[in-house]
Amino acid sequence: PLAATGDLIAEAAAQHRAVAAFNVITLEHAEAIAEGAEAAGSPVILQISENAVAYHRGRPRPIARAAAEVADQAAVPVSLHLDHVQSTELLHRAADCGFSSAMFDAARLPYTENLTATRAAVVWAHERGLWLEAELGQVGGKNGEPPLNAHAPGARTDPEEARSFVAATGVDALAVAVGTSHAMTSRDAVIDHELLGGLRAAVPVPLVLHGSSGASDEELARAVAGGIRKVNIGTALNIAMTGAIRERLAQDDRGVDPRRYLADGRDAMARTVTRLMAVLAQGRVH
Ligand code: G3H
Ligand code: ZN
Repeated sequence: PLAATGDLIAEAAAQHRAVAAFNVITLEHAEAIAEGAEAAGSPVILQISENAVAYHRGRPRPIARAAAEVADQAAVPVSLHLDHVQSTELLHRAADCGFSSAMFDAARLPYTENLTATRAAVVWAHERGLWLEAELGQVGGKNGEPPLNAHAPGARTDPEEARSFVAATGVDALAVAVGTSHAMTSRDAVIDHELLGGLRAAVPVPLVLHGSSGASDEELARAVAGGIRKVNIGTALNIAMTGAIRERLAQDDRGVDPRRYLADGRDAMARTVTRLMAVLAQGRVH
């Protein structure tokens, strides 16, 4: 059934575990994520990013409504999250498109501007009962920009700054830069677990890991054990989907029915979802 992101995260936090949030680009992604989560037997978040909305010709509603329908029919709780929103106009469509939460992304702005813009987004979201995530200390690698080196000084969130930012903005969750970077196709990111511990001690709201495709199984499980409560995964599914489609098309260069290769892509994504959810469950602190 369709659930609210805030409820899924609160429940996970109480049980010292994390909720996986997978990026949806196509309907096949949403179907695969729900299927994979059903096989894992755990709740999941379907997230649609501003970039994915741009891909859908700037229209958030068709893909959001399709994803909401998939969520509603799933055997596990599934919520709908609007991811990496920079445009206030798009944020303001969140409720009407069926999202129960959004990540407002002003992390590219200088600290004070990030704070002011995020505060306004929080006020708007809370008036409508939406759960709002924000980011401090930019996780690099979006929109094709070169991924920041895992040790680059710019890709770190300062715990004291994070403490004041959360207090001043009233955000429900904070995305932190601890060594991962977006759109990595290798899994060799080095997470700064000491910094994560410092952030966890300084910040009273759930912490979110972005760019999680770049982290190994071991690093992911350790990050969850270290207090990460939402794990954002996008690229790993695209690697699975594209790999399976490539393989099918290489074997069959005459077929024209897209269902053949899209089904392979969807199955590959579902398997990846189940596998990664099992990895996150290992990080649960008993
Ligand atoms: O917000 C989305 C995530 O941070 C996805 O990052 O594609 O590198 O896994 P990823
Ligand atoms: Zn992200």
